[in-house]
Amino acid sequence: MFEVVYYSMTGNTRKVAETIAAGLGVKAESVKEKKELAKDSFVFLGSGCYASKPGGKLRKFIARNDFKGRKMALFGTSGSGEGHEVKAIEELLKAKGALIKGSFCCKGRALFFFNRGHPSNEELAKAREFANEMKKS
Ligand SMILES: Cc1cc2nc3c(=O)[nH]c(=O)nc-3n(C[C@H](O)[C@H](O)[C@H](O)COP(=O)(O)O)c2cc1C
Repeated sequence: MFEVVYYSMTGNTRKVAETIAAGLGVKAESVKEKKELAKDSFVFLGSGCYASKPGGKLRKFIARNDFKGRKMALFGTSGSGEGHEVKAIEELLKAKGALIKGSFCCKGRALFFFNRGHPSNEELAKAREFANEMKKS
């Protein structure tokens, strides 16, 4: 069973989350509404990048849930597209004993005029490929 949980302030990461979720045949859920994770589910967790970090609500979600031995895949969007948010999520989860199977990051539109058109259709297609790859792991 897969779960896709995300934090998105301006909608870019939500697009990636929904694309991944569609590939997995599940619904993407905002971390703001997510209560509990199913036991033993494979969780895709993602966030936008805010001052080089994932959103505070996502960090709190990680702090209050049990990830020991859980299979996980990570994703994120940022102005730079470099994935600092994904690396930060990975560190937090590794400290909680999660098994990180892979990660995906891409650019997201920022401040109305940077990165217009991102995540692009091509980036979303890559996100879908990523979901398919992770399904096999
Ligand atoms: C408050 C704020 C801080 C940001 N800080 C960074 C940053 O440190 N590095 C970066 O590459 N992008 C930064 N960005 C750009 C966002 O990471 C980018 O727009 C991302 O796609 C936002 O995801 P979201 O639409 O899911 O919220 C910032 C954007 C906002 C609104």
